[in-house]
Amino acid sequence: MSSAPIGVFDSGIGGLSILRGIQQVLPQENLLYLADSAHAPYGPKGEAFIRARSQRLTEFLLSEGVKALVVACNTATAAAIADLRARYRLPIIGVEPAIKPAAEQSLSRVVGVLATSGTIVSDKFIHLHDRFSDRVQILTRAGTGLVELIEQPEEDPAALQALLQQYIAPMREQGMDTLVLGCTHYSLIRAQIEQVAGTVGIVDAGTAVARELARRLADQGLLSRLPAPGQLRFVTSGAAAVQRALLQRYWHQELVVEAPTGLA
Ligand code: DGL
Repeated sequence: MSSAPIGVFDSGIGGLSILRGIQQVLPQENLLYLADSAHAPYGPKGEAFIRARSQRLTEFLLSEGVKALVVACNTATAAAIADLRARYRLPIIGVEPAIKPAAEQSLSRVVGVLATSGTIVSDKFIHLHDRFSDRVQILTRAGTGLVELIEQPEEDPAALQALLQQYIAPMREQGMDTLVLGCTHYSLIRAQIEQVAGTVGIVDAGTAVARELARRLADQGLLSRLPAPGQLRFVTSGAAAVQRALLQRYWHQELVVEAPTGLA
């Protein structure tokens, strides 16, 4: 059982930013990444749709024998994690915008959150926001269109920069000194965001999810005892050729793309 893979899913390739942290913290674990690229972006879709997809993806991952599940998507965590935890008995770890570390770090007491519209309107996010809003002013902005550009097989740096400027500049003008990347896709373009954000500090879930996963696996005696580095499989509901182009851009390691029929 302890050598069984950990399942990690996202609406697309955004969760690779979380996967990287998991590989660093738990290098001996076998990992199975599932990109629901046929349905990305999740941001503008309703909660019912995201819950249904999250169930479908979890069932696929369970059929592959995963021992734990990481919902490497803020939008799916907000919409579906409670439902997944009620239905399935394995450890399930999600990701949410890192407002707490941002609030601790901010000197101007103005923190920005860039996330999908689905995350921003969710009850889970509103609750998180309200926990910190007496300590810092929290500016929220939906990154509409960013996930589409990140998932596009051809890069479009000018369009990306224009959108980032449009979203980040007004928050800077309002005194933001710390920006939370509240969507796992945005961490993949951190360098471009830093260029636009200038002196603003950038905070994302980083390795926090991986550390939480390691704690949960240790508690349940599920840590891998493999003597060698674990294997990584990449599965998608989308088109394999597109995924290969994206992996070249964002992952920089050889990976076989599996695109089973019936997952879309
Ligand atoms: N990467 C996801 C997130 O963290 C979802 C992006 C999307 O599909 O809209 O929110």
